[in-house]
Amino acid sequence: MTEDYQFTNSWFDLTAKPIWDQLIPKVRPKRILEIGSYEGASACYLIHTLAPQQDIELYCVDSWAGGVEHQAGEAAAADMEAVEQRFHHNTQLAIQNAHYTVTLVPRKGFSDVCLNQLLHEGKRGYFDFIYVDGSHQAPDVLCDAVLGFKLLKVGGYMVFDDYLWNENLPYGKDPIRSPKIAVDAFVNVNIRKLNILQTPLYQFYIQKIAE
Ligand SMILES: C[S@@+](CC[C@H](N)C(=O)[O-])C[C@H]1O[C@@H](n2cnc3c(N)ncnc32)[C@H](O)[C@@H]1O
Repeated sequence: MTEDYQFTNSWFDLTAKPIWDQLIPKVRPKRILEIGSYEGASACYLIHTLAPQQDIELYCVDSWAGGVEHQAGEAAAADMEAVEQRFHHNTQLAIQNAHYTVTLVPRKGFSDVCLNQLLHEGKRGYFDFIYVDGSHQAPDVLCDAVLGFKLLKVGGYMVFDDYLWNENLPYGKDPIRSPKIAVDAFVNVNIRKLNILQTPLYQFYIQKIAE
């Protein structure tokens, strides 16, 4: 990426990129849903990787209000209005450089509402690839997983970021404030409808195999 891009962190490069470098060119998703976009690092990666060869539709759901983890710790100072502006700047830059048509659909709002709206618009089974990287609170992750799975087509892939992420809390680890317990519950109740992909465990990858 050129220096005109405005990214203030390397979350995507550290967690997703090594696996996506192998998975995305193989899967070649055309209809993509991302829950949690922040400054657009994962969205720009998808545009750079896919749009030289094919048209893509990319739905980006974000409240641009930050999560609980943005209210404390190293990300505490994040000015979410500036983050949202950087998302638009970065994705427009990526689209300008794309060879094929990128239909970018930002949906600003909380994911429970936005995902329900997508279902209401008839997008059940519509998406080839869904990236769950919004709230990291277990109840929210479970909601994103359940609604996202309805929006995912059979054969599509869903990726959960930060499966093993934990906050550094004074009282120790709190499983309710991290994604793992929600991903585990979702995978367990849907185990007949999905395959777990063998990848390093910091992220969690599944393929839908049945409705
Ligand atoms: C970790 S960041 C996403 C990072 C991004 N995928 C990347 O690769 O750089 C999480 C984002 O999720 C958003 N978010 C948190 N809770 C949300 C919710 N309940 N609904 C929608 N967006 C939410 C935050 O505003 C934040 O921008």
